[in-house]
Amino acid sequence: MATDLDKTFNESVEKLSMAADTAALETWYRETLGKKGSITLLARQIGKLPAEDRPQFGQQLNQVKKNLQEAFERRETAVKTAELEAKLAGDAIDVTMPGRTRLRGGLHIITKTMRDIYRIFGDMGFQIYRSPDVETDKYNFELLNFPPHHPARDMQDSFYTTTPDVILRTHTSGGQIRAMHEYYPEPVRVIVPGMCYRNEQITARSEIQFTQVEGLVVGHHITFADLKGTLTEFAHRMYGPQRQTRFRASYFPFTEPSAEMDVSCFLCDGDGCQVCKYTGWLEILGCGMVHPNVLRNGGYDPQIYFGFAFGIGPERIAMLKYGIDDIRQFWSNDLRFLRQF
Ligand code: DAH
Repeated sequence: MATDLDKTFNESVEKLSMAADTAALETWYRETLGKKGSITLLARQIGKLPAEDRPQFGQQLNQVKKNLQEAFERRETAVKTAELEAKLAGDAIDVTMPGRTRLRGGLHIITKTMRDIYRIFGDMGFQIYRSPDVETDKYNFELLNFPPHHPARDMQDSFYTTTPDVILRTHTSGGQIRAMHEYYPEPVRVIVPGMCYRNEQITARSEIQFTQVEGLVVGHHITFADLKGTLTEFAHRMYGPQRQTRFRASYFPFTEPSAEMDVSCFLCDGDGCQVCKYTGWLEILGCGMVHPNVLRNGGYDPQIYFGFAFGIGPERIAMLKYGIDDIRQFWSNDLRFLRQF
């Protein structure tokens, strides 16, 4: 029986060395040291031995069991480590694969256009002045020389709040009065940018929400020549030095005289095309000399002070600059449109 034990031991060690995965190890254990395993079966036969041989065989058997148990544990550790390594190698990140690109945000085209405008006027010594989006009738209309019931109010249909006489500003011109109240008696040279709101039919040419950049200059010797020089410089910086400019007489309650400024059409260079409606000119802003009533409402004596003002629509500036034909694109948040700029 001792030889059987040796034989079984050697066979088992050999089989163990061939068990290459967890399943094979489990099978080996069951067939060797398990309840019906070869070693267990040998142990059961101890009763067949003569009584004097039993203790020695018992000792041998225990030693064999112990050796096999230890061999099993060593093999198990080796197999598990190999399996883990194989798994890690299989799951490893392939650093040669192309990476995922991160989406980068960008500035809205109107933000960019506004910043172009700030830069140009900033170079000419203008400061940015902020005035509120929610305005009173007084600042939005009355102090700008629109008396109650004046027909010019019809050009700017307003959104009213539930508080009487409080509206969403229809233009940034109210900022003129606020700036004058704040700066008096110093000279003023500001631009007032911001969102404006009008209760209008939304079409390709008009939105209920749009931006404006107001400009106001007040001082002792301000003339129409300053207005022309400043705004012509703006047009050249914005659209290129080869652009022609012209001023057409117009009407605004808060300026006298009032004008609109056109630039020569950059598509046809003044020859006439669909964009300029065959006039050769594109209107880009309204302007004028500050009306004496408005200077007075701002606290400045119109006998001593003069001023000019202007109002620019950045959406319009951008539409002309980039050839955009529908104003609704700006605030409808369609990334296919916005990503182009
Ligand atoms: N507030 C005018 C508008 O919304 C634009 C404007 C025109 C502003 C002439 C001015 C100006 O300051 O002088 O239509």
